[in-house]
Amino acid sequence: MKAKGKALIVLVCVNTICVLWRGYMSFSLPQDENPCACERCLSEDDPWFMKRFNKSVEPFLSANYNLSEDAFNWWKRLQLEKGNFSIFRETVARLFLTVPPSPEVLESSPDRCRTCAVVGNSGNLRKSHYGPLIDFHDVIIRMNAGRIKGYEVDVGTRTTHRVMYLENSVDLDNTTHLVLAPFKILDLEWLTKALTTGFKGRSYTPVKSKIKSKDLVMVLNPAFMRYVHDMWLEKQGYYPSTGFMALVFALHMCDMVSVFGYGADSDGNWSHYWEELMDKKLKTGPHPGDTEYRMIQELDEQQKLKFYTGF
Ligand code: C5P
Repeated sequence: MKAKGKALIVLVCVNTICVLWRGYMSFSLPQDENPCACERCLSEDDPWFMKRFNKSVEPFLSANYNLSEDAFNWWKRLQLEKGNFSIFRETVARLFLTVPPSPEVLESSPDRCRTCAVVGNSGNLRKSHYGPLIDFHDVIIRMNAGRIKGYEVDVGTRTTHRVMYLENSVDLDNTTHLVLAPFKILDLEWLTKALTTGFKGRSYTPVKSKIKSKDLVMVLNPAFMRYVHDMWLEKQGYYPSTGFMALVFALHMCDMVSVFGYGADSDGNWSHYWEELMDKKLKTGPHPGDTEYRMIQELDEQQKLKFYTGF
């Protein structure tokens, strides 16, 4: 009986140690585990990267998100918005009666490797033969009027996200996410109307009156735009280009980022791969093109992304 009692106590002790050990292992393992299943994941312990990267800034607006008035005041000067903060908030609330309350974003997981290709519109894509490489990524982000038909060999065929601003919007198929880069309240109003009753007004150019795919709509957060300008461009230039904002949101929602189609032509102009440039004095518009390009190079040197510089 005595021996049996001792054996029981030993068994209970061994069992307890096993349970505690298992608990400890399951608690401590994820810290050692890679945050993603890629060969290399964006690391959050790199001081150079963390000086700029702020995971807590939401790339997209959602129904529950409250933009600060301070961020609104920064954003409203980009294209001289006259409407006030409460008009902005009402317009956003109306928009979220039509589009999903939170945008569809693939969360990070140790079980997967989210590869993204960000494809700008630079002429350096011509003759690059990057098409198959671009198509190999899970997420393919294109911008504005970036053409595909006739340019497949150089730019690929697939698009999962297209970042556009109102005056440069194009028709999308029903599998592509529309990522609106808003610059004024009118842009948000346009989105709601173009997805429902149709938009009758105009901006500084005629704009599309109808668009489809309301379930795939995402809207860039003005606070994110400001963060890109402040932290990634050190407030250079007037405001970041659509392409540079797309690149930074790719760093926020992907584990591996490949960058194609960025860089001015030999005259310093942001010409496009599908057309002859008309305005030879374009340069990089209101955007800090050189600073953006240098930052992409730096990110490549720091192995935070892979920059394909074209032909
Ligand atoms: O001209 P567009 O704005 O449609 O081009 C999309 C983006 O591609 C730009 O916002 C810019 O970031 C990038 N671009 C570039 N070099 C070019 C043309 C465009 O870096 N020659």
